[in-house]
Amino acid sequence: MKLSPEDANWFAQVQGEWMRRVKPHQEPLGRHVFDVPPKLEQSAVEGATLYADRVEAMRSLPRGGCVAEVGTQTGWFAERIVDYLQPRELHLFDLSFDLLDAQRPALRARPEVVIHHGDSSQQLALLPDGHFDWIYVDGDHGLEGVKRDAAVALHKIKRDGVLVFNDYTPWSIMELADYGVMPVVNGLLSSGEWRVRYLALHPHMYCDIAIARR
Ligand SMILES: C[S@@+](CC[C@H](N)C(=O)[O-])C[C@H]1O[C@@H](n2cnc3c(N)ncnc32)[C@H](O)[C@@H]1O
Repeated sequence: MKLSPEDANWFAQVQGEWMRRVKPHQEPLGRHVFDVPPKLEQSAVEGATLYADRVEAMRSLPRGGCVAEVGTQTGWFAERIVDYLQPRELHLFDLSFDLLDAQRPALRARPEVVIHHGDSSQQLALLPDGHFDWIYVDGDHGLEGVKRDAAVALHKIKRDGVLVFNDYTPWSIMELADYGVMPVVNGLLSSGEWRVRYLALHPHMYCDIAIARR
């Protein structure tokens, strides 16, 4: 690690405090602190593809489709969706589009782009069921937020549609924050109705996971 002596000293103190409270050697790891995701059956991941990153993974998603991105922020990923997959419709959801307007004003003006301002689960619920080929879920990362988005999104994709979740991790190492993505996704997978299509790696393990109905 590239830590200055001052940072290394601070880090050692934080680590000591962390170990006293979290005690990760307990089984299952950190269960008194974190939402531990349900265990997966091998059948839920059988046949899944592993990609080097989320842009590489797009090769497995349909071109010219009807797509939603829940949580757009600066539009970085939305721009890649447009460039690589030329969606017929791209619906963008966010609480604010200030960052998109500041950094990618041309994206909002594209004819295939539809803006939905406000809470994503409420806005997505207004659209017809079975409308989307795939939905990218990357909005509110707390457990209740992911649950709300997922509960709506699974009605809004086509029967053979794909739900892609960004940040498939129980814990954000960069924010020291609890994420609800892994518990929610594993909950869907353990229902037996869904299986993993792919996992796309990320350098800090903010991976993408794509699931589809069996
Ligand atoms: C991690 S960023 C999205 C990044 C983007 N998907 C990308 O990969 O380029 C998460 C976004 O979700 C938005 N967000 C958080 N909670 C939300 C909610 N309840 N409804 C709609 N958007 C929300 C935030 O405003 C933020 O812009």
